[in-house]
Amino acid sequence: MVEDIDRVRTGVPGLDDILNGGYPKGLVILISGGAGTGKSIYGIQFLYTGITKYEENGILVAVEERPRDIRRYMLGFGWDLKKLEDQNKLAIIDASAARLGIPSGEKYVEMRPFELDSLITTINKIVEKMNAKRLVIDSIPSLFLQFEHELAIRREILRLGSLVAETGCTTILTTEVEAGESRLSKFGVEEFICQGLIQLFMRERGNEMKRSLVVRKMRGTKHSTRRYPFDITPSGIAVFPGEEVY
Ligand SMILES: Nc1ncnc2c1ncn2[C@@H]1O[C@H](COP(=O)(O)OP(=O)(O)OP(=O)(O)O)[C@@H](O)[C@H]1O
Ligand SMILES: [Mg+2]
Repeated sequence: MVEDIDRVRTGVPGLDDILNGGYPKGLVILISGGAGTGKSIYGIQFLYTGITKYEENGILVAVEERPRDIRRYMLGFGWDLKKLEDQNKLAIIDASAARLGIPSGEKYVEMRPFELDSLITTINKIVEKMNAKRLVIDSIPSLFLQFEHELAIRREILRLGSLVAETGCTTILTTEVEAGESRLSKFGVEEFICQGLIQLFMRERGNEMKRSLVVRKMRGTKHSTRRYPFDITPSGIAVFPGEEVY
């Protein structure tokens, strides 16, 4: 049965099958995982394929890595982000400057001290100007690094949740968890501001690290809750719904 809701293609081969067609449109989805599990690539692939395959413009809020590093690194998959930026289909907001306190030189910049409302204003302006449909913020923990108290961070994360939901974009947020930890997210609140949650894992099997994912929740849709293997290939992430995790 096909559910009567609008879908947004994930851009990841295999993942749409698991999600019964894609992310429900307008949802805020959390991608949670340990270091190097592939969180950033999931986010950027969502934006890149959105533009190149589905004609949906996108915004990347780069908090962890500098935009110029991201551009260079993504060329490794054959993804020319600069070209999409020049065509006004992709906007990269440099929020790493707010974190690192170093000069940026980017078109869209969030400087120190980081201000959530300022970031949201910038996002909303770009949404309007570019008719953006997809938004990625990578990552939540880096966004609130300047806050000393977890309580203040939690409060800001909750506020972030309602603010991004109002942009109208289908949104991916990323967060970190340590390997082996039972928490779903770094601060234990990120999953509550998101209507979707995908967990990424890397586990040692034999002498190799194997990647897998679990769709923990996806509001408004039927989805598989099995663990699926995925791989980061030279052309991006691919999930293998027909294969078992070993
Ligand atoms: N061109 C490529 N081909 C295959 N695998 C790659 C390629 N580029 C990167 N990778 C893999 O992707 C991993 C990094 O993915 P990504 O940056 O999305 O992880 P992350 O979860 O965001 O990590 P972090 O915790 O550092 O933010 C690398 O460690 C590497 O294993
Ligand atoms: Mg990352």
